[in-house]
Amino acid sequence: MNIPKDLYEAAIAVRQKAHSPYSNFKVGAALRSANNIFVGANVENASYGLSRCAEQSAIQTMVSSGYKDFTEIVIYTEADTPASPCGACRQILFEFSPDAKVFIINHKKVLKTFTVKELLPEGFSF
Ligand code: THU
Repeated sequence: MNIPKDLYEAAIAVRQKAHSPYSNFKVGAALRSANNIFVGANVENASYGLSRCAEQSAIQTMVSSGYKDFTEIVIYTEADTPASPCGACRQILFEFSPDAKVFIINHKKVLKTFTVKELLPEGFSF
């Protein structure tokens, strides 16, 4: 499956804006909702537990802009293996679009593709 080029480029660009002085690990996420692209980078805090992941930032922007679902998300890192969304992010993605495609890719262009549901089988909803 081919990665959507516009989301890939948007994820690379927003990654540069990460605030990650504690982990020194920058993450960029870009998702498509209707005809819009919403982006997010990870935002850390001196009180470590308050740090927010890139995927969560992108979802916050999507919802704050009036949208409630997305079709695909690209997550870009410069780790040796592409970083997969953490457990909390999986549940946050699941809330909005369990069937969305998730592309994780790194600077070596190692790409893995899933659906949100594949990453979080039996995610919580009521
Ligand atoms: N991080 C994300 O942005 N997304 C994930 O799915 C996992 C981890 C961030 C959080 C923290 O700022 C840094 O990566 C190291 O854990």
